[in-house]
Amino acid sequence: MDRTTVADARREESVGKQVRLQGWVRTRRDSKGGFSFIELNDGSCFGNVQIVADGALANYEADVKKLNVGCCVTIEGDVLKSPAKGQATEVKASKVIVHGWCDADAYPIQKKGASFEYLRTVAHLRTRTNTFGAMARVRNCVSNSIHQFFQEQGFLYIHAPIIGASDCEGAGELFRVTTIDPAKPPLLEGKIDYTQDFFGKPTYLTVSGQLQGEIFACGLGKVYTFGPTFRAENSNTSRHLAEFWMIEPEMAFHDLYDNMTLAEAFIKRLITDALTKCPEDMKFFEERIDKECLKRAQSVLNTNFLRVTYTEAIDILLKSGKTFEYPVKWGIDLQSEHERFLTEEHFKNTVILHDYPRTLKPFYMRVNDDGKTVRAMDVLVPGVGEIIGGSQREERLDVLEERMRETGLDPTAYWWYLDLRRYGTVPHSGFGLGLERVLLFLTGMSNIRDVIPFPRTPKSAEF
Ligand code: 4AD
Ligand code: MG
Repeated sequence: MDRTTVADARREESVGKQVRLQGWVRTRRDSKGGFSFIELNDGSCFGNVQIVADGALANYEADVKKLNVGCCVTIEGDVLKSPAKGQATEVKASKVIVHGWCDADAYPIQKKGASFEYLRTVAHLRTRTNTFGAMARVRNCVSNSIHQFFQEQGFLYIHAPIIGASDCEGAGELFRVTTIDPAKPPLLEGKIDYTQDFFGKPTYLTVSGQLQGEIFACGLGKVYTFGPTFRAENSNTSRHLAEFWMIEPEMAFHDLYDNMTLAEAFIKRLITDALTKCPEDMKFFEERIDKECLKRAQSVLNTNFLRVTYTEAIDILLKSGKTFEYPVKWGIDLQSEHERFLTEEHFKNTVILHDYPRTLKPFYMRVNDDGKTVRAMDVLVPGVGEIIGGSQREERLDVLEERMRETGLDPTAYWWYLDLRRYGTVPHSGFGLGLERVLLFLTGMSNIRDVIPFPRTPKSAEF
């Protein structure tokens, strides 16, 4: 008999079918009439299917009556219409095979209401909990939508390298990649001689696939990358990971406003798909994690994103009469308290802030005619803050070289990036969306460590 998923067995259309289910027991409850109810989950959907295991089963006493949370089983039987409320079907078992017993007292995730902090310490088992099952399915749905969205619009998927020699964001938050033996590194005039390293020069894990995305956009038009990126920022916040997944579209002939329009359509598509394709999981997040999350998602979906300049935002903050921990003046990097005030209190909406001071942003952003600001954009959503960072790129060779020197980069090391401006330069734009930030927004989870399968944060890389 073919395997059936719990998701299929729960559907009304399955009534009358013979099924073979395989999964893990969530609970067993014995009835006075000499039979048992087993709640079975296999990860195919949020809900369990109820199995009715009759006392007449050959191994009823030997096996069925010893099943408890965590046991792994195969169950064959018939799907019946369920008389119970809240479920369309149940399965009357004709055969129960136990693959793996589980000592309920020792089972690390047995306790109900275990904290997320605790579950991070048993990340190898937390996939069997409601929250992490729901998370995995929503994450999968969003990942799929990302590809669908761009593929439907004729973007090429580009695999950007993981290892590189450049620092796209210029923030110096790089993880070094080396095969040099730290105990006896080759030295040249007292310093490590990286010409003897594997790649013959210092190399790092990428912080962004943007620069390579630009190479492809400046020849093929519209492209996107979707891969892991790495930042050695030693900030232990609920919004930062050392390894996170980023989606970076890059488009030739798009200006900053085209970039904003694409970002808005993209975010809205991800929300729509999560709501329509994972309704059960999203309902769980609303009921158990954050009562506002569905409402917030709907409202972002139903309103136009506002476009506000950095300078206007500073004015609003100054006139707000609020005291912020970080005092506001033109030129400051906006902190999460400022962003939250703008999105959650002032505008009560998603805001695209643009045209930031050049001193705050990386070398590649196009300088405005005022000389003081660059064509940057950050998309801020209620509840999370920055979810996207992007810009129109500097396509003028001389300005770009000047910006590189100004931000302490050596233009000769980026000769290939400059060549894109030297030969047939093109106005172009792009942005980066943090996958985990989207998931925080959708699910209302409060810590980014709980929306990625295996979080990498300072002092933590166990699993
Ligand atoms: O604003 P960022 O640093 O922009 C870039 O990396 C550009 N190269 C993107 C581009 O234009 N192609 O990062 C983009 C997004 C942020 O808005 C945020 O959502 C996410 O990536 N992000 C992080 N997510 C989790 N942990 C971190 N440490 C993150 N840093 C950035
Ligand atoms: Mg940013």
